[in-house]
Amino acid sequence: MKQTVDWHSHWNKPAPGFHEGRVNAYLQQYIPLFKLQQGDTIFMPLCGKAVDILWLSGQGFKVVGVELSRVAIEAFFEESGLEFTQRQAGKLMLYKAPNIALYQGDFMHMEPQILSACKLVYDRASIVAIELFNRAAYKKKMLELVPAATPMLMVTLSYDQNQMTGPPFSVPVDEITKLYQPEYQVEMLRNCEQIDERPRWKERGLESLIETALRLIPL
Ligand SMILES: C[S@@+](CC[C@H](N)C(=O)[O-])C[C@H]1O[C@@H](n2cnc3c(N)ncnc32)[C@H](O)[C@@H]1O
Repeated sequence: MKQTVDWHSHWNKPAPGFHEGRVNAYLQQYIPLFKLQQGDTIFMPLCGKAVDILWLSGQGFKVVGVELSRVAIEAFFEESGLEFTQRQAGKLMLYKAPNIALYQGDFMHMEPQILSACKLVYDRASIVAIELFNRAAYKKKMLELVPAATPMLMVTLSYDQNQMTGPPFSVPVDEITKLYQPEYQVEMLRNCEQIDERPRWKERGLESLIETALRLIPL
């Protein structure tokens, strides 16, 4: 997709601000809601080098991720100590370890057969990485990729976009609701003020930053 954000330069920094470095608390708390079985496939769009990939595979799930940055994917394998194989898969490069398949390249180049068995989309800080003009195409592509009854666990952010430019961008719940209807019902799981936990963002001028965990239930 055409983007104005240079994600590669974010990954060339020593510590990209969006990388949590620990398992996401909402993921741990809310994954039981989805009643998954061992061996089920979870899709992590725009996955970065999230520790969640390793945690989910350790819980017995298969993880499929896509990430633009080769640096991020190779850092994930180096930091997790997992051995991997690597091969070209269409327009993407596939990095594989047991129960983990990470595709390096543009999300828009993913093909539906990769995700035909997907049981959950886990979107943490992914929709907020997509510029406004690309969000409708992102959602359309997502619906082409995963089976129609696939629920989603989403973690989004909202803040005053006049106080700070993204990424990550502010994508409030009402925007998600509009974007994902009529295919999904959007249920709020948690809504938290996070500005005191993000001093770097406070320094950039933000007064409030709301982090929201959502469950998207297919209709
Ligand atoms: C805000 S980060 C979140 C990463 C991850 N979800 C996490 O929780 O740490 C957004 C990620 O999206 C990746 N990205 C941006 N545009 C992409 C695209 N079109 N296809 C695949 N990955 C993309 C960036 O390289 C970056 O790693």
